[in-house]
Amino acid sequence: MFYLTTAIDYTNGSPHIGHAYEKVLADVIARYRRLRGDETYFLTGVDQHGQKVQQTAEKERVSPEEFVKRTTQKFSALWEKLDVKYDGWAETIDERHKHCVRTILTELKDQGQLYKKTHSGHYSVRQEQFLQDRDRDESGNFGPEWGEVVEIAEENWYFKLSDHTDWLKNFIETNPDVIIPHFRVAELLNALEKNSGLDLCISRPKERLRWGIEFPFDENYVTYVWFDALINYISFAGYHAAPGSDLPDFHQLWPSNKRPVHIIGKDILIPAHGIYWLCMLHAMGFTDEQMPILLVHGWWNIRGQKMAKSTGNVIDPNELSNQFSVEAVRYYLVRDIVTGKDSDFDLDRLVMLYNTELANELGNLCNRALNMSQKFTAGVLNIGGPLAEEEIALQKSLTDSIADYQKAMDEFDISKGLEALSRHIVYCNQYAERMAPWKLAKDPANTDRVATVLYHLAESLAHATVLISPILPDAAEKLASQLNRPDLTALKLSDLKWGLLTDGHTISQPAPVFPRIVLEKAD
Ligand code: MSP
Repeated sequence: MFYLTTAIDYTNGSPHIGHAYEKVLADVIARYRRLRGDETYFLTGVDQHGQKVQQTAEKERVSPEEFVKRTTQKFSALWEKLDVKYDGWAETIDERHKHCVRTILTELKDQGQLYKKTHSGHYSVRQEQFLQDRDRDESGNFGPEWGEVVEIAEENWYFKLSDHTDWLKNFIETNPDVIIPHFRVAELLNALEKNSGLDLCISRPKERLRWGIEFPFDENYVTYVWFDALINYISFAGYHAAPGSDLPDFHQLWPSNKRPVHIIGKDILIPAHGIYWLCMLHAMGFTDEQMPILLVHGWWNIRGQKMAKSTGNVIDPNELSNQFSVEAVRYYLVRDIVTGKDSDFDLDRLVMLYNTELANELGNLCNRALNMSQKFTAGVLNIGGPLAEEEIALQKSLTDSIADYQKAMDEFDISKGLEALSRHIVYCNQYAERMAPWKLAKDPANTDRVATVLYHLAESLAHATVLISPILPDAAEKLASQLNRPDLTALKLSDLKWGLLTDGHTISQPAPVFPRIVLEKAD
């Protein structure tokens, strides 16, 4: 089983394009893995506890329960709209998750991995958190962003993170492949160096935070939101599920010899996933072979700036897909970023990439293959006469393009996979220009030749339909239906051999699948 998860989104606000990117990326990867023939389980969801949620709910004068119900709905509705098809949905207020978190806390305590201690230090009243020396500004003071800072002493529960950091360092050094992309490994090892000797505070006293999972053995405390949230990856996979639960079989999803893949943004590698989570799993007895792969994606920025509600530069994926279509948004989000790197969100590029690669190239291939087949061969495809050099070269272009697509997609590089596909489509359109079947058709002596050319275009389109399906599932269905082969979208990569369309196959009536985007220019 290929078990794939994303980060779970905070429900203290609305989803923006960054959240949408991660979910679409995961959806594309999950669909691609199915296309490869891998049995796949895709989990995503929402992070509903913590201070930010409690504070925002208070501001809006509703209970946190009511508040997260409302915001969660915004996320799930957006995923439905964007055709993000997950198998499991994680909500951290779910009793099944709470049961798992409490069982883990009890087990860790029984194993001597947790202890209680009093910490005294600087505490920001406004941010409701303890501050560290690294939070001081250049002059050594805590800046105005922290509001009033007081010295307080507070007793809390701690997890013995420091017992696991030597193991973690050695594990990462000997298994650097678990962090993708590779350049993040050094970052993580550096952070580990700095973190050594520190344990993790995993509780919050109820006087300052009520909205969390209550400790099973100390009712005055709730669980620190990260400790709670990280556990979603196993709780919703059936780990420590109560008898009779409807959750998946944990050992199927997370067997002893296959790593799951967690897709996360670069901001939550250190310390949350790269340090806390791996140490938590180690403390729970997960073996080195079971440690997850962390696929760390970059960020979408706006003109080099971080997207932030406070500066008003957030892109709303709902509005964007209403304006340009879901297909345009899905395509742009995985096309104009290299997985692992940052990218600048740019509407002109969205329009340009859609118009060039979808409307002009793929749309044109579809239009030529299907319209001309209707016109010149009465909608019936046939292989025609003997193949010329041109057709042999076209078939080779397709084989090469599929190999490059597969390599890139296996490496989670969707943009490169799409480039490989695009290359063959451009090739086909150039081939059509060179062969000019519309000219050949004027002479009845060329009947076979016209059929051969159109067959090669249609067969290429059939392959493109399958290859584009993880990225644009809806468009792929439309293309398959126009080719009169709705079953194409159920094919696997291994089925992709020349001759998907048989001699004598009748196609359906074509209709535009990628209407050009025309932007109204402001005067
Ligand atoms: N709730 C935590 C994650 C817990 S996982 C056990 C969280 N939530 S978040 O809503 O702030 O972010 C969710 C995901 O969206 C993260 O992986 C984050 O990196 C990603 N993104 C947030 N803004 C982003 C961009 N501007 N661009 C790309 N992804 C971004 O962190």
